[in-house]
Amino acid sequence: MSLVTLAPSGKSVEVGEGTTLLAAILQADPDFPHKCDGNAQCGSCHIFVLEGRKGVTKTTREENEKLDAIVGVGSKSRLACQVKVLGTENIKVEILSFV
Ligand code: FES
Repeated sequence: MSLVTLAPSGKSVEVGEGTTLLAAILQADPDFPHKCDGNAQCGSCHIFVLEGRKGVTKTTREENEKLDAIVGVGSKSRLACQVKVLGTENIKVEILSFV
């Protein structure tokens, strides 16, 4: 299990291995945007992983290609729908207001 904490709200949710960050975030914040329903097509689920980056799956080529096409991307950027929790450490994500 991993604790996923959202910034800036501070809400958190405990999820098991294999849960996507999108699913975890939606448990804590049902209004979180995910326009393509998790298919790496829309970029609306763009977040920053602030802590616990080793506790999630690596970026796939499909995710990288979509990240390349969106504005405001940094080294901590991920698409929440493409990231799975490994259950090895707690994770802190920043919900971006400019998306
Ligand atoms: S929900 Fe569309 S890219 Fe993640």
